[in-house]
Amino acid sequence: MNLKNCEIIHLRRIEDGNDGTISVAEEHRDIPFKTKRVYYIYDLDNASALRGKHAHKELEQVIFCMHGSYTLGLDDGTNQMDIRVEDPSMGVYLGPELWHTMYDFSDDCVLMVMASDYYNESDYIRNYDEFKNYLKNQK
Ligand code: TYD
Repeated sequence: MNLKNCEIIHLRRIEDGNDGTISVAEEHRDIPFKTKRVYYIYDLDNASALRGKHAHKELEQVIFCMHGSYTLGLDDGTNQMDIRVEDPSMGVYLGPELWHTMYDFSDDCVLMVMASDYYNESDYIRNYDEFKNYLKNQK
């Protein structure tokens, strides 16, 4: 992918025909960090729902769409990309310093996020200009 600190993760699919499918996310094998926190996002029945709008200084995360679909907007400060996600076996790895937004959720959308650390508000950059300045100062 033409973006810094970002990659698509394809989990194995163990398919059992009419009995469904299993996808497996294992630490270090599929998820490139030790998961300290899992959170999920649901009740997205508002067509104008918009989440994210921030970057992290150090946190690493992988976002899965367990059900339904949504669009993930990504911006590493130089390049931008929108990804439509509707496959529960596909995760998106978000490393640090990546501005992200989530929008265009289907009513039944459920997102599940695996994170490398506990919630810490001081790791967030919630203002886009501040994000650009932060990147400049990191160089
Ligand atoms: P935020 O990370 O901004 O959500 P999103 O990226 O999905 O839009 O978090 C929204 C609010 O929820 C914020 O006030 C902090 C709180 N929160 C926690 O307390 N713990 C958590 O693990 C997360 C992810 C959020």
